[in-house]
Amino acid sequence: MRLGVCVSGQGTNLRNLFERGFEIVAVATNKPSCSGAAFARENGLPLGEFSQKRFESREARDVAMRDFFNMQRVDLVVDAGYDRMHTAPFVDAFAGRIINIHPSLLPEFGGAMDAIEQALRAGVERTGVTVHIVTDDLDAGPIVMQEAVPILPDDTLEALTQRVHEAEYRVLPAAIFKLERRIARPAVG
Ligand code: GRF
Repeated sequence: MRLGVCVSGQGTNLRNLFERGFEIVAVATNKPSCSGAAFARENGLPLGEFSQKRFESREARDVAMRDFFNMQRVDLVVDAGYDRMHTAPFVDAFAGRIINIHPSLLPEFGGAMDAIEQALRAGVERTGVTVHIVTDDLDAGPIVMQEAVPILPDDTLEALTQRVHEAEYRVLPAAIFKLERRIARPAVG
């Protein structure tokens, strides 16, 4: 399955997918100076740079991103630390074929960039990771896969973040395999 990956940050999930041999045919970023974009350049992955300042609206940016992914014949879009919501021209073009990885057990701690910190501060016993289908509603599309991560009594933000990321490196590939089976053999009727 041909993946188009959207990144804005560290890009460690992008790296994980690449190292596991997934077919990454396009990487798109709104932050050309982020580490994820640097990783794409260093590894010869086709990179589309879509800084918002180059476009007059969010929709115009997303039309350009959509056209780039279509040109690369992307089957599945993976938001791996992408920090913007996609607008209608993009979501409609890839309806049901965009997934996002979020560092909590949604619907808990949804809609937040600091979901791991929030879980730690809330004093709950576990958090986790979720891969879900992206709709135009933030962190609210159908869930594809989840994995719980226990919060230990003396956990620090650093230690918990590390364990959440390790869960992400398992769950995101597993969710892609699951969707690949679903897309390859669509339900009849
Ligand atoms: C991950 O924690 C993911 O759940 C969230 O953004 C982070 C991206 O990390 N959406 P990286 O850029 O893949 O290292």
